[in-house]
Amino acid sequence: MESNNVLNIHQLNAYYGKAHVLQNVSLQVKPGEKVAILGRNGMGKTTLLKSILGIGGVKRTGDIRYGQTQLTGKTTSDIARLGIGYVPQGWLLFRSLSVEEHLIMAYKPGREDEWTPERVFETFPEIARRKKISGTSLSGGEQQILAIGRALVTNSNLLLMDEPSEGISTMVLERITGICDEFVKQHKSILLVEQNLDLALKIAEQVYILVNGEIVHSTTAAGFKDDKEKHMLYLGI
Ligand SMILES: Nc1ncnc2c1ncn2[C@@H]1O[C@H](COP(=O)(O)OP(=O)(O)OP(=O)(O)O)[C@@H](O)[C@H]1O
Ligand SMILES: [Mg+2]
Repeated sequence: MESNNVLNIHQLNAYYGKAHVLQNVSLQVKPGEKVAILGRNGMGKTTLLKSILGIGGVKRTGDIRYGQTQLTGKTTSDIARLGIGYVPQGWLLFRSLSVEEHLIMAYKPGREDEWTPERVFETFPEIARRKKISGTSLSGGEQQILAIGRALVTNSNLLLMDEPSEGISTMVLERITGICDEFVKQHKSILLVEQNLDLALKIAEQVYILVNGEIVHSTTAAGFKDDKEKHMLYLGI
């Protein structure tokens, strides 16, 4: 295993009770790399991100290293303290917090090129206009933007995103793609789960395909782009 990887997953198995959902999953994310996990509904994409963070009642065995830190033995709160940025599927916003409070509570100061709540509002005026209302009163697309902003202000060196394109307009997606490009220029890394193949291939350099909890294929985004046979075989599109 390369020791300078931001994320090193080796022989990960994940379970909900007796249900064995991920099987011997291995993958790496290097500094400054954007990696996408592709797969149809129910294949285990979200479970992979939950396994990294130790959330959602998932039990896991194997190795998940974040830098030099082994995550599989750690509790959810210990992992939370490491401050990995996370955009959850379904956003998980709080009714009792305003849009602005979501960002203020998640904010951890970073370097001079950091993301602050103000910078999120400048980048996404869509939600700046609504900063005083409850996070859950936003439209679906706006809640997705807030969930992305909340992950950005953690100023983490690793961003996990679970289907960030859900509910978002093409115009906003362009901005998000730009943010991802800028993010990796600072040697930060992205692990993206997507069903939107075009977006995944636009953002990522490396792709892994999950079928029934197993990585059945891994290649470069460029190598996967025109492989229509594999799109049909693995993604049904
Ligand atoms: N809390 C849970 N308890 C039991 N089984 C679960 C739980 N969460 C997910 N599963 C099962 O684990 C499998 C993988 O689910 P997961 O949510 O990881 O899929 P996914 O690839 O993210 O799908 P989608 O594209 O629909 O979001 C599915 O069969 C699902 O039914
Ligand atoms: Mg999912």
